This record gives sequence, structure tokens and C-alpha cells, in this order.
Amino acid sequence: MQEKTLVLIKPDAFEKQHTGDIIAIYEKAGLKILAMKLMQMTPRVAQKHYAEHIGRPYYAELEEFMTSAPLVAMVLAGDDAIARVREINGKTNPAEAAEGTVRKLYAESVGKNAVHASDSPESAAREIAIFFSAIEVLD
Ligand code: PPS
Repeated sequence: MQEKTLVLIKPDAFEKQHTGDIIAIYEKAGLKILAMKLMQMTPRVAQKHYAEHIGRPYYAELEEFMTSAPLVAMVLAGDDAIARVREINGKTNPAEAAEGTVRKLYAESVGKNAVHASDSPESAAREIAIFFSAIEVLD
């Protein structure tokens, strides 16, 4: 099934200039880029995007990090894109991520973990709408 998913190349990976390497991994897997922008997250956007994490012990650190420097937001599409991108990214904690995954290659910790990707069709729709207007996403 053709799906769309939101991917963020987080400030740690952008700062270390791994953006091109990470996009190449997605493109080699056959995923298509439907939208892309370079931006800096505001606390308000972080609170919307990570609404379900507000109140967790790591939330303050997560918001501080995600708003600290620019990131790249993109919409990727393809067959089973949501699960496939999460598999390509690897586990949240890079110490547990499989060889060859984005997080094994480029993440440094559970917080500074290089990439975010939507975890369900509902969160993909919700997250894409936070970062992109309808006219910014290719059909
Ligand atoms: S959950 O409950 O399964 O959704 O949680 P998880 O996927 O493990 O983590 C959700 C996001 O929170 C970030 N995170 C942290 N940030 C900073 N410090 C700590 N200790 C920490 N633990 C988790 C994690 O990077 C996840 O970010 P996203 O952007 O969703 O990958």
C-alpha cells in the first residue's frame, strides 16, 4: 500500500552534515521525496509534534535539543513507507540499532538519534500537517 510518512533529519545529523548520506539511503530504498524543507523548530512546534511525550522525564531535554539548531523535514512516500522507514532508521537507542541502519551509522544517543519518522498512518497524517501545507506536498 502506498503510504506517506514524515521524516525529520534531527539537528545532530544536520550539523554533522549527514543530510545527503541519509537522504541517499532513503532514495536507494526506492522511497520518493514528496516535500522537503530546512527549518528550525520552535518550542510551539515541538510541543505540537511531541504532544504525547509532554510530561515524560525526557521531554524538556527533547524539546531543548529539537529546537537548538536547524533540521530537515521531509515527506517520503512508497509502498509500506511508514514501517520501511522505521526499519531503515533502526531502533530509537543507537546502541540497540541494527548494522546498516541510519541510527547505527549516524546517531550518538537515545536523544541525539539523527532521525524521526512517523509510527502509524494516523501520526503520519497529523505530523505532515504540522510541517507542510497541502500545496507543499507533491501528489
Ligand atoms: S515511545 O514511548 O516508544 O514513543 O518512546 P521512544 O520512541 O523511545 O522515544 C520517543 C522520542 O523521545 C526521544 N527520547 C529522548 N530524548 C531525549 N532524551 C531521552 N532520554 C529520550 N528518550 C527518548 C526519542 O529520541 C524519540 O524521538 P523521535 O523523534 O520520536 O524519534
